Amino acid sequence: MKKMAILVILGWMVFGGHALAAEGEELFKAEGCMRCHKAEGNSKIYPSLPEIAGAYKGKDEQLLHYLNGETEAIMRPESAGLMKPHVEKTRKLNVVERKSVADYIMTFIQ
Ligand code: HEC
Repeated sequence: MKKMAILVILGWMVFGGHALAAEGEELFKAEGCMRCHKAEGNSKIYPSLPEIAGAYKGKDEQLLHYLNGETEAIMRPESAGLMKPHVEKTRKLNVVERKSVADYIMTFIQ
């Protein structure tokens, strides 16, 4: 745990605030998230990136916990099963990578 905290702090020092977003975009694409979560458009099943960012507005910490498999889905719990295998992927990222994905998502706040 201590090691993780140090990594997070280092990440912040090196990249600062939401500057990790560019790395997050790469990961978001590489992990296949883009297949279901688009920058625009509306789907009843798959929330778009602006929708996710809106749901987690002011809850950056909670988004990190969600991507680490520690909290339940808040948006569409009825289709959370479709998302579960992908939380398994984000759980396996290191802490800085996971933060970069969260930062990328939060750039879509409107
Ligand atoms: C096969 C389609 C699919 C893929 C691929 C996918 N997701 Fe999802 N995702 C969903 C669905 C469906 C929901 C809505 C259900 C829910 O709220 O859990 C969702 C919801 C979410 C949410 C909101 C969770 C909440 O609190 O409700 C986040 C954040 C998210 N996805 C991130 C990601 C990331 C990051 C990846 C890539 C590692 C990814 N998704 C890949 C289908 C997908």
